[in-house]
Amino acid sequence: MEVPGRPTPQPPAVERPRFRDRDAAELRRPDVNPYVASHRGASERLIPADEAWRWRGRWGEQFGREAPLHVEIGSGAGFFLTGMAVAHPDWNFLGVELRFKRVVICARKLDVACVSNARIARYHGAFLDDLFEDGTLSALYVNHPDPWPKERHEKNRLIARWFLEDCARLLQPGGHLRIKSDHPPNVTRVPELIAGLPFTVTGSSVDVHRDGAPWEGDVETNYQRKKRIAGIPVLAMELVRQG
Ligand SMILES: C[S@@+](CC[C@H](N)C(=O)[O-])C[C@H]1O[C@@H](n2cnc3c(N)ncnc32)[C@H](O)[C@@H]1O
Repeated sequence: MEVPGRPTPQPPAVERPRFRDRDAAELRRPDVNPYVASHRGASERLIPADEAWRWRGRWGEQFGREAPLHVEIGSGAGFFLTGMAVAHPDWNFLGVELRFKRVVICARKLDVACVSNARIARYHGAFLDDLFEDGTLSALYVNHPDPWPKERHEKNRLIARWFLEDCARLLQPGGHLRIKSDHPPNVTRVPELIAGLPFTVTGSSVDVHRDGAPWEGDVETNYQRKKRIAGIPVLAMELVRQG
């Protein structure tokens, strides 16, 4: 979507994305999720998958300024993304969310908050190098990733060695990765998964509601709030990319 004054995507920075979205014919079928069609153009702050990867290496242009880039994977309804964008106007925030309906809900929240420093991209968190160059992110956040507890679903888990390798490559030295989850293995497995990677664990909590998050200024996510109300502990861990 062209917006006066906003730079439009230029020829792609990489030849083609690795994320193979559902094909166009399937996405056009009227019986599929109505958000497939309506997410496009729903908000200036919403970037569809086939546009998102074209901003690789040029996110500063998308935001209209160069600023530290903070990325949340799986933003859901956008409580965290919006709260962080409001709390940190000097940083640029990009949420990466796969589901069509959720990107629309998230974008609406960003629109209501009138934040100029946040966008939501519909994209797959397993293909972050379609979106970002190595060593360019100031922070990554993963809040309540889908648990996939059954062993036969292991391949679907985001908190996995390959994902943490991607995070280590994409973060700048000194950049941080913060994970929160009510599914303990998503946090407790991390120290063994990062063996040999250039990460230092700088903080952890086994119950954020009781002990607080191991960092300043935590913003509660939608799932985090639900777990607090239900009395279910939320674990957290912060990793810093070594220099
Ligand atoms: C359990 S919800 C948590 C939502 C939000 N982070 C929160 O804490 O309230 C997990 C979210 O991750 C999204 N998600 C799952 N797999 C994803 C992927 N591969 N890439 C991007 N988002 C993904 C889901 O669509 C969902 O919105």
